[in-house]
Amino acid sequence: MAVFAEEVNLAGYTTLRLGGPARRFVEATTEDELVAAVRRADDEGEPVLVLGGGSNLVVSDDGFPGTVVHVGTRGVERVAADGGTVHVRAQAGEDWDAFVARSVADGLAGIECLSGIPGRVGASPIQNIGAYGQDVSQTIVEVRAYDRRERSVVALDPASCRFSYRNSVFKGSDRYVVLDVTFALDESEESRPVAYAELAKRLGVRTGERVTLKEARDAVLELRRKKGMVLDPADPDTRSAGSFFTNPVLDPEQFAEVERRVAERFGPDVTLPRYPEAGGRVKTSAAWLIDHAGFSKGHAVGPARISTKHSLALTNPGGATTDDLLKLARQVRDGVRDAFGVELVNEPVFVGVSL
Ligand code: EPU
Repeated sequence: MAVFAEEVNLAGYTTLRLGGPARRFVEATTEDELVAAVRRADDEGEPVLVLGGGSNLVVSDDGFPGTVVHVGTRGVERVAADGGTVHVRAQAGEDWDAFVARSVADGLAGIECLSGIPGRVGASPIQNIGAYGQDVSQTIVEVRAYDRRERSVVALDPASCRFSYRNSVFKGSDRYVVLDVTFALDESEESRPVAYAELAKRLGVRTGERVTLKEARDAVLELRRKKGMVLDPADPDTRSAGSFFTNPVLDPEQFAEVERRVAERFGPDVTLPRYPEAGGRVKTSAAWLIDHAGFSKGHAVGPARISTKHSLALTNPGGATTDDLLKLARQVRDGVRDAFGVELVNEPVFVGVSL
């Protein structure tokens, strides 16, 4: 039987430690409970918020006027093996990093660079979590979900998931509730080729080379810790929702215009970061734009502040409200727009608030 409560404070369930009360709160530990809780709320015309690790959520100080369904389903199993590839299915409520750690320990490659990301497995396809050259679109073979529109359980193949940079069919829509995710992993003690320059440098290899799974995991954890991107109760910089803005992906003309503004402001020696994307578009760095718009690390608006370790993380080191955090976010967004003409877009999911 799912555990049910009323007026539960959501601040205790988000990594930002922000958010007001949920009118109703259901803890679902089996798939049947999860589907039943969502179905019941839908029958009653009650708004639903599906909550996993709360690591990518900004919840209003007013809370949520509906039912929060906390996903606590557990289980990881090998469902198929085929010529060096193993299909592993994990339930939505499994802790993401524990799943990565277990895959590394079992000699399964493909998600080792996604070490140290907070949250649960069920959230991983929603924004196609990615870091250090890997994202889950490279390994996901199936997502099972409860389809609230059709009122049935469906299986989505990778094409139906429509993955792109920090995006998928699941993001920005409440149609699907992810139940489990199946990954195709390589049976190998070696990592997939290292694809991120900073990680390769840390490992002392060139991009394209491989290291052991453990070396890759340890190096990623070390890099993330230095950036305040591994949850640590002793480190207030980690009271965040990770990157607060996505990295802007610009048309060549837009990119040239930003370069022009950079040259005007800083002269020819300062170079705007440039990461070529498909279709001639160019991704640049939101953190760099924030830094160069004049926001130093640790910059605060009231009790909300930019992480002292990474400009892209907005934090609640203690005593802030969601309102405080949004004031800081708007100031950063407006400052970057004024300086460079680029509109930063929030990366975490917003509940009951907007920028
Ligand atoms: N930079 C700055 N100032 C900073 C930090 C970074 O100017 O304070 C510039 C540097 O030029 C640096 C570049 O930004 O070379 C890239 O920085 P970093 O490698 O830390 O990556 P990011 O683009 O800021 C993205 C993801 C992270 C992911 C890292 C590593 C997004 C929105 N963020 O950050 O993901 O861990 O790459 O792969 O794509 C998240 O999504 O929540 C997240 C933490």
